[in-house]
Amino acid sequence: MCTHKILLAALLLAAGAARAEQPNLGRPVSESDLKAWDISVLGDGTGLPPGSGTPAQGARVYVEKGCATCHGEGGKGGRNGALVGSPPIDRIEAPKTIANFWGSATTIFDFTRRAMPYVQPQTLTDDEVYALTAFILEQNKIIGPNDVIDAKTLPKVKMPNADNFIVRFPDRI
Ligand code: HEC
Repeated sequence: MCTHKILLAALLLAAGAARAEQPNLGRPVSESDLKAWDISVLGDGTGLPPGSGTPAQGARVYVEKGCATCHGEGGKGGRNGALVGSPPIDRIEAPKTIANFWGSATTIFDFTRRAMPYVQPQTLTDDEVYALTAFILEQNKIIGPNDVIDAKTLPKVKMPNADNFIVRFPDRI
């Protein structure tokens, strides 16, 4: 055997030994751990859970959960961004809001359930998130005051900016 081959054999042996001696850290992911992470909702509504809510219910949850502390009364904006309002996007720095920018209504559900309230994320029930989503959509005049938002109705809500997104490389999807 030439030196190169011996070296390669030694390296392979060492790699095999390293694999056998795993650090033994961590533990297998359990179904319930996985479930807590597996909360993505797609634009077509895939992943939306059971439950429902109306704008009136959402208005109450909005107050109870302190959303106004950061997003202002009725979502008009405060310490943090506005959830209501549709200023024109006429320059690159123009504020992007839910009504003037977001392409899918289901993202409001996904984002709110995943990340809000900012200091206590993932503490809202699915019904509360549906109600908040309904409230935000209604305040933006995208749905009516009596509309019920659930897994069937939310994906059908058309966002004002939905048609302005283009799929740059459709063949890669
Ligand atoms: C402590 C302050 C705070 C509270 C309370 C809070 N938010 Fe937020 N919210 C934020 C911040 C900061 C962002 C921007 C986060 C980011 O971009 O990652 C945000 C972003 C959002 C967005 C996305 C808006 C956009 O146009 O990008 C939604 C929707 C939202 N919050 C809903 C809510 C709702 C509903 C509640 C009440 C249940 C709530 N938030 C409570 C601070 C807060």
